[in-house]
Amino acid sequence: GKGTYPHYMLKEVDEQPAVMRRLLTEYVDDAGQMKIDPAILKAIDDADRIYIVAAGTSYHAGLIGQSLFEKLAEKPVEVHVASEFGYHMPILSKKPFFIFLTQSGETADSRQVLVQTNRLGYPSLTITNSQGSTLSREANYTLLLHAGPEIAVASTKAYTAQIAVELFLAVALGRHTAIKAAQDFDVNHELALVATGMETLLSEKQAIEDFTTMYLKTTRNAFYIGRGEDYALSLEAALKLKEISYIQAEGFAAGELKHGTIALIEDGTPVMAFLTDAKTIDHTRGNLQEVRARGAKTLTIVSEDHAQAGDQVVLPNVNPLLAPLLGIIPGQLIAYYASLQRGYDVDQPRNLAKSVTVE
Ligand code: F6R
Repeated sequence: GKGTYPHYMLKEVDEQPAVMRRLLTEYVDDAGQMKIDPAILKAIDDADRIYIVAAGTSYHAGLIGQSLFEKLAEKPVEVHVASEFGYHMPILSKKPFFIFLTQSGETADSRQVLVQTNRLGYPSLTITNSQGSTLSREANYTLLLHAGPEIAVASTKAYTAQIAVELFLAVALGRHTAIKAAQDFDVNHELALVATGMETLLSEKQAIEDFTTMYLKTTRNAFYIGRGEDYALSLEAALKLKEISYIQAEGFAAGELKHGTIALIEDGTPVMAFLTDAKTIDHTRGNLQEVRARGAKTLTIVSEDHAQAGDQVVLPNVNPLLAPLLGIIPGQLIAYYASLQRGYDVDQPRNLAKSVTVE
């Protein structure tokens, strides 16, 4: 049940620090070694490219996973939306390895791709919250999310659990092939910091609620902007907002705004920016100035190290590769409060089902 919580979504958002800690006990031993079947590492090592296939929020977790695999394992990765990939399959590399990210393990769009890759004889791994699910049974290997049941339609703890499991896999893979970045990455330490950082953010809900009351309660549209992983984060934060508050929200690559979309900015349009990627923070701050000059109401979500006077949501410092695990928390909370304040059913939004079993 949801206990003392008014909604499953809020309960599941609050569970995320505990899920991070549980995942550490499931996947990492005291010496910091990953507890992952070596056969999985060998199969991925034998491949020349990882293809991550997923839908919705799981697709967004795949985008974060891409940087983890590239930076910690130096492995080329492509991330694809399942419903597109299945019918417009690109020319594949010579030795592909497929990773299916799916909370439910039952998503028809993802399954139709797995049916094809099985037919073609390509090796595959399903990362899922649901042991014994269809995609788990039909792939060669499975890694579980251990997030506990996710009841709210809007996916929250499964997203952060997916990123954590991708991290474990990327580190294990990188060490398997003697990549220094993976050898040096102290998973126990870094993910424990993330769990504590999540707790800090979750204890400061009031500021998020206040911003939401001021700028999102009646708006027609809203934008999230960022670059790189902050762009991937923007896509996920915007999806959360769309699905439960029905605000037309877009996640946008901050640098692309000026190529057309900035025309949509009016007096009062909310624009939220993720600022965790050191290389691009200054540029994105410049984009914020441009939208502010056109009347936008802005919110900055910024890593502590890069915070300046006037920044609103400060994310406790963690390893920059893991900043998305913290960045998404205010995104989830903004969606929650916007839905609540607009009088909607947070856990059961219109037109949506928890698991989408039709193509
Ligand atoms: C968004 C959401 C959906 C799912 C998508 C994939 O909050 O829940 O976008 O992420 O339908 O579902 P799974 O991960 O079960 O394959």
